Amino acid sequence: MFSLGLVMFILSCAIFQAFPVSSSNNYGGLFPELYQISCPQANEIVMSVLEEAISKDPRMAASLLRLHFHDCFVQGCDASILLDKNSAFKSEKEAGPNKNSLRGYEVIDEIKAKLEQVCPHTVSCADILALAARDSVVLSGGPYWEVPLGRRDSKTANFNKANINIPAPNSTIQNLINLFNKQGLNEQDLVALSGGHTIGMARCVSFKQRLYNQKGDNLPDVTLEKTYYNGLKSICPTSGGDNNISPLDVASPIRFDNTYFKLLLWGKGLLNSDEVLLTGNVKKTKELVKSYAENEAIFFRHFAKSMVKMGNINPLTELKGEIRNSCRRIN
Ligand code: HEM
Repeated sequence: MFSLGLVMFILSCAIFQAFPVSSSNNYGGLFPELYQISCPQANEIVMSVLEEAISKDPRMAASLLRLHFHDCFVQGCDASILLDKNSAFKSEKEAGPNKNSLRGYEVIDEIKAKLEQVCPHTVSCADILALAARDSVVLSGGPYWEVPLGRRDSKTANFNKANINIPAPNSTIQNLINLFNKQGLNEQDLVALSGGHTIGMARCVSFKQRLYNQKGDNLPDVTLEKTYYNGLKSICPTSGGDNNISPLDVASPIRFDNTYFKLLLWGKGLLNSDEVLLTGNVKKTKELVKSYAENEAIFFRHFAKSMVKMGNINPLTELKGEIRNSCRRIN
């Protein structure tokens, strides 16, 4: 008797035969055409749920982009971020970088429920996260890229790794480079992907240190432009207000463009981790910030390329993992 996993594997192989891909389109076992036969409506369903969710709440695009990033940096892009805690493990949702901060779980649930109705047990939660990230960028005015597909879902989450692997907002440039290198991502990926901060919001707790005590001397970060700094202080008082929010790109917070990089040049980057891309004394990251600020097309091209690279971190393929029925629970 075949197990369901084996049947899915054979089906994947058959589809791979039906849609042979050139080596340039083969991303370590993932390929964009995967659901063309098994769930041709997949892309359409993801897009239609997102269109509605983002029209109701424009920030949702940013939240979904971030969800994919936080998934991929912890044991690979395997939807581990979506698992609720159970008796066997703590959830990644409760880890420091995610708690009271990550959003969008309900939108993923809605997409998954619709997909299960139309093509049961076919589209993984990890692939939904990758498609939702891409479509969120497109719906915000950013670049399109083909999403390699075929990630399967993990049967476990890793609370500790979520605390260790996801970079903190007060990171130095070397911390950032190290954490990205650990995932097989280089300095160009770091700068291009940080451009994801062209949309979305951050809580005061994520950048307050820069306003009041950047170096433990009760003084602000000197790189902050004066009027921007004053505006931030009015949103984030010395005490309290830690959950008040401010846009990561103050000029166009729901538009995916290269303004984030222009703002960095003007001393108007929100997080320390944004600022150090320019002032952290690494020539390569500094040059890339300038080049993306000057040329949006290069930023878009590099961003799309790095998203594919990030989306390809340690996927579960073949017989590993499972296709979850609900993204919040293992089967
Ligand atoms: C380079 C290291 C990074 C650091 C230190 C970092 C840190 C943060 C922090 C602290 C926030 C605000 C969280 C809060 O206050 O609740 C945030 C928001 C966000 N991050 Fe990052 N991030 C990084 C890289 C990335 C990458 C690679 C992406 C995607 C490609 C991304 C996409 C986003 C988005 C879109 C938001 C806004 C989310 C929303 O409004 O719900 N970030 N990030």
